[in-house]
Formats: sequence, C-alpha cells, structure tokens
Amino acid sequence: MADSGKSALLVAANRGPVSIATGAGGKEEVRRGGGGLVSGMVSALSEVGGLWVCAALSDRERTAARRAPEGHLAEAGYDTGGLDVRMLPLDPSTFSRAYNGIANSTIWFVHHLLYDSANTPVFDAGWRRLWGAYERYNRSFADALAAEAAPGAKVMVQDYHLDLVPRQLRERRDDLRIAHFTHTPWAPPEQYAMLPEAVGREMLTGLLGADHLGFHCARWADAFLACCADLLGADVDRSARTVRWEGRTVQVGLHPLGTAGQEMRERAGQDDVEAGVAHLRDLLGDRKVIARVDRTELSKNIVRGLRAYRELLRSRPEWHGRVVHVAYAYPSRTDLPEYREYTAAVQRVGREIEQEFGTDDWDPLLLEVANDYPASLAALRMADVLLVNPVRDGMNLVAKEGVVLSERECAVVLSRDAGVADEYAPDALMVNPYDVTETAEALHTALSMPLPERQDRRKRLLAAATALPPADWFRQQLDALD
Ligand code: G6P
Repeated sequence: MADSGKSALLVAANRGPVSIATGAGGKEEVRRGGGGLVSGMVSALSEVGGLWVCAALSDRERTAARRAPEGHLAEAGYDTGGLDVRMLPLDPSTFSRAYNGIANSTIWFVHHLLYDSANTPVFDAGWRRLWGAYERYNRSFADALAAEAAPGAKVMVQDYHLDLVPRQLRERRDDLRIAHFTHTPWAPPEQYAMLPEAVGREMLTGLLGADHLGFHCARWADAFLACCADLLGADVDRSARTVRWEGRTVQVGLHPLGTAGQEMRERAGQDDVEAGVAHLRDLLGDRKVIARVDRTELSKNIVRGLRAYRELLRSRPEWHGRVVHVAYAYPSRTDLPEYREYTAAVQRVGREIEQEFGTDDWDPLLLEVANDYPASLAALRMADVLLVNPVRDGMNLVAKEGVVLSERECAVVLSRDAGVADEYAPDALMVNPYDVTETAEALHTALSMPLPERQDRRKRLLAAATALPPADWFRQQLDALD
C-alpha cells in the first residue's frame, strides 16, 4: 500500500482472486481462485502493495462484502492470503442484468459470432434496461477504483465485463495510468455494427479512456482498430497500432497469454491427478486417446467436435476398438437458458455415439459433464490427440496446458479461429471449426502421425505454449504503462 493508504497498483475484474462459499456444515469458507492468471496477478500485486477490486457474485459474498469495512475482506478477518481485496456488494438485480444480460449475452455473443441472426439479437426497450444496469455496474467499479488509487497509480482493468471503466475512471481521475485487457476475441466491424449505434460507440470510447489496450493476438487487436476507424471515425494508425481520440493517443498491444509450464506440471503430478490417470489407464488400456477439456460453452463447439468423432468412426472403421474420445466439459453459466440447452445437446450426441458404436468391450466415448479439475488434468496427461475446435476463442489456454501435460507427445487438432492459432500454426493440424468432415480427417491424420513427427511438432508447440507465462504477461502490460 502506498504512503497515503491508497494503492499504487490495482486490478479490476468481475471475478475476484478469492470466493466466499458455503463449506461443509454450512460454514463460511474462503476459497482461493486457482489458475496461472490469478496467481500471476496476485504475485505482482503483493510485490508493490496492490488491491484487487471485484464484484460480489452471490448472496453470501454480498453479505460478507457489506460487513467488511468498505468491502475490504481482509479487514473483516477473511483470509485472502495477504492480498488486499475489495469486493463490491452490488445490488443483485443490477449485477445479474449486467453480468448475465449484457456481458455474457450481448457482448460475449457479438465477439464470438454466436448470434443466430434470423432470431437474435433483439435490442428493444427491455434490453436497454439491461444496458443501463451494465453502465451502473461499470460505474461502481470506476467509483471504487477512483477512491482507492494513489496518485499516479496503475490500474489494470480486465475483460468485457468492464469495457466502460477506463473512460469513467479517467473522468474521475486523470492522473492514473490505465490499462485494459480483452480476454475474448473482438468482432469485425460488420458484426460489431449489430449493436445499437450509440452502445457500440459507448463501448469503444469507454475502452479508449485507457492508455494501453491489450489483446491476445493481432487478429482481435486489428478488428478493434477497424471498429475504431469505421464506426467511430477515430484516427487509427494500423501499423503502429495506435488510436488518436479526443486529443490522446491510445496504444494497442499484443500480449499472447501463455501457461506456466513448471507450475502446471507440479499441479498435474499431485495425488488426485495421479489417481485420475490410474483410473483412465485401467479403463482405456492401450487404446489411443483423443482428449478435450472445456467449459460447456457455446463457443467451444463441443457438439461439432462430437459429430466429427462420429464421422471418423463411420468413415474409418479401422479405429473401432482402438480409440476412445475422453471429453470433459464442466458446467458453466447455467443461469442462461442457451447454456442449459447446449449442455443437453452435448449429452444427446454423446448418447447417440455410444448407441451407434459401443460394444461389450469397447466404450468409444467417455463424456463427463462435471466440475472435476483433477480428472481433466489426468485426461490431458493421457492425450495422444488434443481436440480444440472452438467457433472462436480469445486464446484457449487448454491448447497450451494440454501440450505441456501430454505424456504421449500429443498432436493438436486446432480451430483456425482460436487466438492460439497464430502461435500454433503450422505445427497443429488446423481446421475450419464448422467443417465436421475436415475435423474428422484431421483426427485421423493426428491419430496416424508417426512418433518422430509428433515429437518434432510438439517441441515447437511447447515453446509457444510457455513463451509468455502469466507473471510475464502481466509485467509486460505494466511496463507498457511507463
Ligand atoms: C472465460 C473467458 C474470459 C472470461 C471468463 C469469465 O474464461 O475466456 O474472458 O473472463 O470466461 O468466466 P465467468 O465464469 O467468470 O463468467
């Protein structure tokens, strides 16, 4: 913490680095967020005395946040691992409208091109009420950050939940250095222009309140620049990746988030994962494994992935009895009906595959819709082939974690529309995510690839996967603010 009692470095994200849940016996329990991204940012914050501002996501968290002085959890006795966390107890209906109604619906859908344009989206009066909630939710973050930041502090705003914060914060505190990172893709101008014109402009100008805007790859950064030029009429220098807007120059940077190899391997070597590996070995014998691990998320394209596997088994019967598809999908965003329906579709296609091909001694598919992190790491360790076929994806860290963890020199079948494609082509087998036949053929090629070729490709994939681990990724963006 800076001398003034204010913070010199702040992270703002919808989700906090800790969550407060109901543990065994109904007792309150603080859980630390896992994953490299959280630990990368937490270690940078701890170095300089920083603060993480997040939203309370449940009733339990709202109560805790309201009880804590100004929402500072540690001051109310919560064990936040030495980290300063301020949790915002937002009104539940504002939170749900902003998070479910706008961030995970409108913004997520537009950037991932998920709309079925014959029917959706519909921007009516009801939708405009949701948008009002998104503005208020962003303002709550801007108010808290403005109150907590030391003079000249750096503020690192995360993701599409908080696209309006950079501008709102600059209006309150012109002395701050503000960065924003978009973890999703960015829509090309024609798709982005589906949004009501004023809203599309508000999001762009909201982000342009920052000094530095980060994206995972050139494709998303360049789409953002194109939106600024075409829809805002801003002065864009595409080769320098800068935008002149209202007398300021905003820098757009590429920061392709990678995985921390050593940390991943250590986690995947723990007993709970070892038990998962032993279990899979028993079940699968010496069969080849096509593995995938995803949230049950529309953009992940799990249904077409299963259809591709079915087409492989139909067109290449030589694989019958010799391969198993291990697909772990952990439930996500179950408050949204589209997600519940999608999960049901995944399970339906899974059952069809089992019925069509299953025999007494061969189960062609191991599909688990459950939240079981150790089991999913075990699947990645066992992968001969890793299937990552999203419709669109900001980066896709599973593609990186899987390459680190595979003990069988896995080959990767990868959608051309994942951010990681920039770094993985040509060593992954690239596919059009809509082309089920092409994906089936790529699975066959991957399963048939000779070991020396897989080793050779994996060496380069591994270098790409670990090139920019989370701590370095974060440090790069801090440096960009100097
Ligand atoms: C994915 C996306 C991130 C996003 C996160 C939110 O991981 O790639 O961009 O921040 O989902 O997920 P949540 O569970 O918090 O809605």
